[in-house]
Amino acid sequence: MYSFDSTGLFQASERQAGASGGALAAAVTSGGGFGFLAAGYDGAQKLKNELEMARSALQLHSSAPIPIGVGYLSWQLEKANSPAIELLSLALEARVKAVWFAFGSDLGRWVEFVRNHDGKSRDGHKTLVFAQISTTEEAQQAISEWRVDVVVAQGIESGGHGHGSAPPLLALVPSIIANSPPDGPPLLAAGGLSHGAHVASLLTLGAAGAVLGTRFLLTPESLYTAAQKQALLAASDSATVRTLAFDRARGTLEWPSGVDGRALYNDTVIDDDNGVSIDEVKKKFLDGVTKGDAHRMLVWAGTGVGLMTSVKDAKAVVEELHQEIVERLTASAALVGDS
Ligand SMILES: Cc1cc2nc3c(=O)[nH]c(=O)nc-3n(C[C@H](O)[C@H](O)[C@H](O)COP(=O)(O)O)c2cc1C
Repeated sequence: MYSFDSTGLFQASERQAGASGGALAAAVTSGGGFGFLAAGYDGAQKLKNELEMARSALQLHSSAPIPIGVGYLSWQLEKANSPAIELLSLALEARVKAVWFAFGSDLGRWVEFVRNHDGKSRDGHKTLVFAQISTTEEAQQAISEWRVDVVVAQGIESGGHGHGSAPPLLALVPSIIANSPPDGPPLLAAGGLSHGAHVASLLTLGAAGAVLGTRFLLTPESLYTAAQKQALLAASDSATVRTLAFDRARGTLEWPSGVDGRALYNDTVIDDDNGVSIDEVKKKFLDGVTKGDAHRMLVWAGTGVGLMTSVKDAKAVVEELHQEIVERLTASAALVGDS
């Protein structure tokens, strides 16, 4: 089980914190999953602090590898003189167990960057490379060209940013499997998963594991505000929408073409859809963020949000999911009996 949830997607000036830092990533790992935090828009000192927090929560020595991962937005790495490259080096130097790349036109370059770094390491530390993709063609490229260690198939159901034309997981996962070599890297499924039954269904489709983002926003360790968590608890399964309204309101429209984000539908989206001037949308959005107003603020959420009814420790979430998965798989196995 993997949890990736990030958010360097918020800027400090918007007074909305990110979602996954060292505390959440470490808690997921100590629960038996694998936690990721995001490098996103934050600076080097913030990333250092978060990695130290994870190290300390996991009671690791200062030079021990850290069994969590760090996620990067590849389009940020691809900018000329990108500060994100320093953040990538920093995580590699800190000996994190994995890095995650998504949303770029040259992911292969960053896989090579990691391999070169590991090639120079004196103790043979290997950093696993995860690539998140949304089409069968990209999965093939990730496997045969970029040679990643783990492929993450992100479906249209996903919370946060993703490809607006991504197929649903029920179509995407079997298609990738049908077009991949049998000895390829593990395939994880991401998008709209909130219950162990969801994960069990994807395991029976042939995925090797699952990635949950939104579910981990509802933990004490997540950096989401109390108002954002309350909005998630109140949301039904039809409460989300894919949109660029929040990126327009925040001034974060640099995403590659075709990418938008799934969030809770509210007045910010309605105004944006209705052609209200961007200045007014922005002003009301920032005001709403300050006040924690669910009608205006940004709450990323996947389609599984309707089943999320409680805030629980991240470790407890992983354990609960594990138990539900085993129950569902056992019940399914009973359908075919002993033969
Ligand atoms: C708050 C939030 C922030 C996210 N940020 C990123 C990101 O920076 N990079 C990325 O590759 N995916 C990001 N995602 C998407 C996740 O990688 C994953 O695909 C998604 O959370 C799975 O869907 P779910 O949220 O319905 O579980 C984010 C998701 C959420 C909910």
